[in-house]
Amino acid sequence: MSILVFFISLQVLLVPLVSGASHVCRSYCGNITIDYPFALKSGCGHSGFRDLLFCINDILMFHISSGSYRVLNIDYAYQSLTLHDPHLSTCDSIVLGGRGNGFVVEHWRAPYLNPSADNVFMLLGCSTQSPLFQGFPSGNHVPCRNVSGMGCEEYYGCRGWMDLGLARMGLAYGTGPPICCAIPFDSIKSVNLSRLECQGYSSAYTLAPLRVSGPSEWSYGIRVKYNVEANNDSFCKACEATGGSCGHDVGRFGQLCMCGTWNSTSDCDTVMKLSVGGATSTMVELSGSMITVIAMWLMSFRM
Ligand SMILES: *[C@@H]1O[C@H](CO)[C@@H](O)[C@H](O)[C@H]1NC(C)=O
Ligand SMILES: *[C@@H]1O[C@H](CO)[C@@H](O)[C@H](O)[C@H]1NC(C)=O
Ligand SMILES: *[C@@H]1O[C@H](CO)[C@@H](O)[C@H](O)[C@H]1NC(C)=O
Ligand SMILES: *[C@@H]1O[C@H](CO)[C@@H](O)[C@H](O)[C@H]1NC(C)=O
Ligand SMILES: *[C@@H]1O[C@H](CO)[C@@H](O)[C@H](O)[C@H]1NC(C)=O
Repeated sequence: MSILVFFISLQVLLVPLVSGASHVCRSYCGNITIDYPFALKSGCGHSGFRDLLFCINDILMFHISSGSYRVLNIDYAYQSLTLHDPHLSTCDSIVLGGRGNGFVVEHWRAPYLNPSADNVFMLLGCSTQSPLFQGFPSGNHVPCRNVSGMGCEEYYGCRGWMDLGLARMGLAYGTGPPICCAIPFDSIKSVNLSRLECQGYSSAYTLAPLRVSGPSEWSYGIRVKYNVEANNDSFCKACEATGGSCGHDVGRFGQLCMCGTWNSTSDCDTVMKLSVGGATSTMVELSGSMITVIAMWLMSFRM
């Protein structure tokens, strides 16, 4: 009997040895964990997020065509990232002069990244000729609106405007287009300050279900939702379930399951059966029948 127990525990020990590649892609930057679909190592993660994150002196940076942003956090449960742009206007400081990044994503990456629906972009100091105001002032064409209870009427109350020497009344009721125009990302699809002819921008979000009172309590930053389902995630789930790490082919961007010493285009179990799996299972069968023989031999002594 003890031989049988020994054999069973040997098998239990062998399983983790066979599939030990599950965390080869995980990395850390400062106190932020980087996991699928993101990665810092080439070939890891989903190809939609390749060349996106960089760790510089323990600071995680996010790079897209409009520029670089600091990543404040990655929320894997809600599939979102929070980004910071040093030239983003907040309540305390209004930054004009067109220095902000805005938010423009490469065309091929757009299905994977989108500022969240409850994130408001407030475009500041846009010219009368801005595409935003096509049709202004004839009325209903101005796209400016409140997003998740956040908008310019409240933002005008921020102290940053006083510091600029602009009084609240003058801001809200000018004759030209408004100096601030709040908008959800979805209605413009890209925040390109030079194309929109704007001097600056702010971006804020509220973390539901908390409703905060005023603009000094909004969270400033860009809240971005990421989406892996856009390209079918069942591949990665199957890969991880068999002990692999999800990655992609760096040349052709197809999905790859990294199984330690080899890569699979499906999952780690399938490759086992096709290649080394044959030898392993033969060995298991051989030792299995040897144990049966030994057990029978031992039992024959008792009889
Ligand atoms: C990470 O560190 C920063 C300060 O460097 C802190 O503000 C933040 O809360 C930390 N995040 C986590 C998830 O611990
Ligand atoms: C598996 O794929 C990754 C990413 O493309 C690559 O870096 C690695 O060298 C490959 N490993 C093997 C054993 O082919
Ligand atoms: C923003 O728009 C300008 C002018 O249309 C263009 O030259 C520039 O490439 C755009 N920037 C990005 C990041 O797409
Ligand atoms: C935004 O909300 C404020 C206060 O709730 C309101 O006074 C204002 O008219 C709204 N603005 C727009 C454009 O809907
Ligand atoms: C996702 O991929 C799996 C196989 O990798 C396939 O069986 C399934 O139908 C796909 N689902 C969608 C929605 O494309």
